[in-house]
Amino acid sequence: MTQTGEHDWAHHYAARTRGMQASEIRELLKLLEDPGIISFAGGIPDPTLFPVAEISAAYTAALESPEKSGHALQYSVSEGYGPLRDWIVGYMGRRGVACTRDNVMIVTGSQQGLDLIGKLFVGTGDTVLVERPTYMGALQAFGPCEPNYDDLLPGSNATAASLAERAKARGGRVAFAYCVPDFANPTGVSMGEAARKKLLDLCTEMDVPLIEDAAYEALRYGGAAIPSCLELDVRRTGSIDASRVLYCGTFSKSISPGLRVGWVCGAKDPIRKLVLAKQAGDLHSATINQMVIHEVATRCYDAQVAKVCAAYRTKRDAMLAALDRHMPKGAQWTKPDGGMFVWVTLAPERDAGAMLPDAIRRERVAYVPGRAFHATGGGENTLRLNFSMPTVERIEAGIARLGKLFA
Ligand SMILES: Cc1ncc(COP(=O)(O)O)c(C=O)c1O
Repeated sequence: MTQTGEHDWAHHYAARTRGMQASEIRELLKLLEDPGIISFAGGIPDPTLFPVAEISAAYTAALESPEKSGHALQYSVSEGYGPLRDWIVGYMGRRGVACTRDNVMIVTGSQQGLDLIGKLFVGTGDTVLVERPTYMGALQAFGPCEPNYDDLLPGSNATAASLAERAKARGGRVAFAYCVPDFANPTGVSMGEAARKKLLDLCTEMDVPLIEDAAYEALRYGGAAIPSCLELDVRRTGSIDASRVLYCGTFSKSISPGLRVGWVCGAKDPIRKLVLAKQAGDLHSATINQMVIHEVATRCYDAQVAKVCAAYRTKRDAMLAALDRHMPKGAQWTKPDGGMFVWVTLAPERDAGAMLPDAIRRERVAYVPGRAFHATGGGENTLRLNFSMPTVERIEAGIARLGKLFA
C-alpha cells in the first residue's frame, strides 16, 4: 500500500521496465498546451495539410457495400492488406528496389516495425549500433530488450573488429545497426551515398542486419535524391532476398500519422518472422485504415507529397532565415534538405536542458534538449527545433525569443 492508499505496483514490474520512466522534459512539455507558448518541441505534421476530403471519401467507399464493409471491419491477415502491399511493391520498385508482396509487411506505424525488430534480433547482453544522436523513439522501442549501445559510423571511427570485440566483452554480440539516413530525426542531416556504402561495408564485415528508418525519405525540399541503403545493397547483392537491410517506411509524414500505417520491406525470411511477432502483438493493423491509405495513395500520393514539401520548404526557409538573424555568435545549426527538424549546437559550455525551464516559463518558447537523443551520453549543448508544426509567423517570433535566451 502507498501513502495515498493505492496498491503499490512498483515491485510487480519486471526488471526490464526500469528504463520506462517519463522524463522531466516530458513533464515540462505538458505546459505546451498553453497557446501563448511557441513550441518547436513537437515532431508532428501540420494538420492543415492532411488530405481530409480524400480520407473521408475513402472511408465512405470502404463501407459502401456489405462485401467491402465485411472485409474492412473483419479480422484479417497479419501481413497486411494485399492491394496496399502491392502499392508499396510499386513504390519501392520506383526507388530501385525490385521486390514482391512477400517482401513487404504492413505495421501499425513504422514505430511498431522498430519494436518488432528489437524483439526479433536483440538477445540478452547484445549491442545495438546507433548514430549519435539518434531517434529517441527507436531507443524507446529497443529499450525493453535491454540492449547495450555503441556508436555507429560515420560519427565514430570504430572498426568492425573493435565493435564486435566490445559487444563480446559486454556479454553478447552486435545485434544490428540502426540508422535514419534521410533528414534524420533529430538532426535533419542526410547520409551521403559514400557514407551509406561505408555503413553497408561495416555491416557486411560484421555480418549484421542494417535497419534503415526511412520515415522522412519522401520529404525532400532540395538537393538530389540519394539511393536508399536497401537499394544500394540490392544493387550489390543482386536481389532483395540476398540483402541484409530492413527498410522501415511510413505514411505518417506524407498522408497522416493518425491512421497508423507503415511498412517493413526486406528479405522474405525476416519478414516472415516479423509477421509472426506482429501476430502475437496485435494480430494485424486496422484493415479499414489500410484500405483508406491504399485508396488515398493510389489517388493522390505524389500530389499530396508535393503539397507537404512545398509547405515545409517555406517553413524550413523561415526557420533558417530567423536563426541567421537571431542566434548568438558561437551557435551553429544544420541546414536540412528535407524532413522536419533543425539541430542547433550551442557553445560547448551551454546546457540546453538546464535552460529549458527558463525558455518555457520566461520566454514562452519550447524545444527538445539534445541530451535525450544520445544513447551513449553527451549532447548537453544541443537542441532540436521542429519547423513543420508552427506557422511562419510563430517561427520568426519564437526564434527571436530563443535568440534572446541563448544570448
Ligand atoms: C525517425 C522516425 N522513425 C519512426 C517514426 C515513427 O513513425 P510512425 O510510427 O508514425 O510511422 C518517427 C516518428 O516521429 C520518426 O521520427
